[in-house]
Amino acid sequence: MNKIMIVVGARPNFMKAAPLVAAIRRHNRNSLANPVSLCLVHTGQHYDEMMSGAFFDDLDLPAPDLHLAVGSGSHAVQTAEIMRRFEAVLLAQEPDIVVVVGDVNSTLACALVASKIPCDGGRSRPLIAHVEAGLRSFDRDMPEEVNRVLTDHLADLLFVTEESGMQNLLREGIPDSKIHFVGNTMIDSVLASLVKAEQSRILDQLGLRRIPYSLLTLHRPANVDQREMFLNILEGLQDLSNTCPILFPAHPRTGRRIQEFGLEPFFMVPAGTKDTCAAPGIHLLEPLGYLDFLCLMKHAALVITDSGGIQEETTSLGVPCVTVRKNTERPVTVSRGTNVIAGTEEGTIRKAIAKQLLTNQPATLPEKWDGRAGERIIAKLLAMPGRAEEEDLVAPLSNATST
Ligand code: UD1
Repeated sequence: MNKIMIVVGARPNFMKAAPLVAAIRRHNRNSLANPVSLCLVHTGQHYDEMMSGAFFDDLDLPAPDLHLAVGSGSHAVQTAEIMRRFEAVLLAQEPDIVVVVGDVNSTLACALVASKIPCDGGRSRPLIAHVEAGLRSFDRDMPEEVNRVLTDHLADLLFVTEESGMQNLLREGIPDSKIHFVGNTMIDSVLASLVKAEQSRILDQLGLRRIPYSLLTLHRPANVDQREMFLNILEGLQDLSNTCPILFPAHPRTGRRIQEFGLEPFFMVPAGTKDTCAAPGIHLLEPLGYLDFLCLMKHAALVITDSGGIQEETTSLGVPCVTVRKNTERPVTVSRGTNVIAGTEEGTIRKAIAKQLLTNQPATLPEKWDGRAGERIIAKLLAMPGRAEEEDLVAPLSNATST
């Protein structure tokens, strides 16, 4: 195994990939005679400084070796453009393994290209490794669910974060030999960054030191792309916002919808400004960097979110979380962790918030969420023989049992 290519594209990819890069660096330091070459590819699905660049600094990620600069577009346009540009990269670089992480469009697009890359001179295609395999919301209306299912069925090595992931993959007919329960690289990043996050000045900047506050994120199209739904969620937050400050660093899509739908009166300050946020109400902020956000999350009384990763991060931090969705693909955050699935109705959101504010149950950390998942994954990859052998190649998708 000489060359590992890691693909990132969107904000939630960076913290999942950073521990893999760190583990490769460690290997190369400790094994000077047998170094592995790393090629980090950024598709450019996210491109704003606060959606991408800031995370490279905060997570100590090297600048990408290759940047595909695809930018935004419809799902079809974005996925197709990533595929088109990534094919040229794969042909030129010839890695032994392509590692994709998470469930964004970049994840599927690059796995699909790698699975069908033409190879000459008797070489086989690269192995495909999927980090965060097996998660299922069983909701095919979510673009991420489609990305997850298809990527898993293309991958040769499936690295799973929680028990449910293994069960889902086995039920879909994926051979046990391809599945590796390694833990959660997103939690590796949380644990590795806590000391630096505590040095963040964000609590002082926002006037929140020793003030109880909640933290809110919303960006799912199903929640923010229709005025009625967005409004309904904001109304579900009203009791809480009457009594405590809610910090809302909004995704660019969400910021735009607020303006488009005329929802500014729900917020304390105009979008895009940072101010003193100690007063009750919903305080709209620009997206935050990783360390500032981690600091705010760690000290929050409550987190309300529709993100996948934040459900896991709050579980690892022992912070109560209310998930504004009808389902979760991360059930361990509910069964063992700090998470409650609230649904998206005004009344159910209100009820879940009230319940979580009273909760005092210590969470158990899920199995293998110990900060060493990246290390386990890289050890496994380094033990692989090289580019895919015939028997490693995956069965066609049509042979797989569907969910
Ligand atoms: C993507 C992921 C989602 C993940 C989220 C985290 C898919 C299908 N979805 O959703 O799983 O939770 O990232 O943020 O891959 N935009 C900017 N600047 C940027 C990036 C995006 O302004 O740097 C705006 C653009 O208007 C763009 C919109 O956000 O059209 C949506 O971006 P896109 O990458 O298509 O999906 P996300 O909603 O960010």
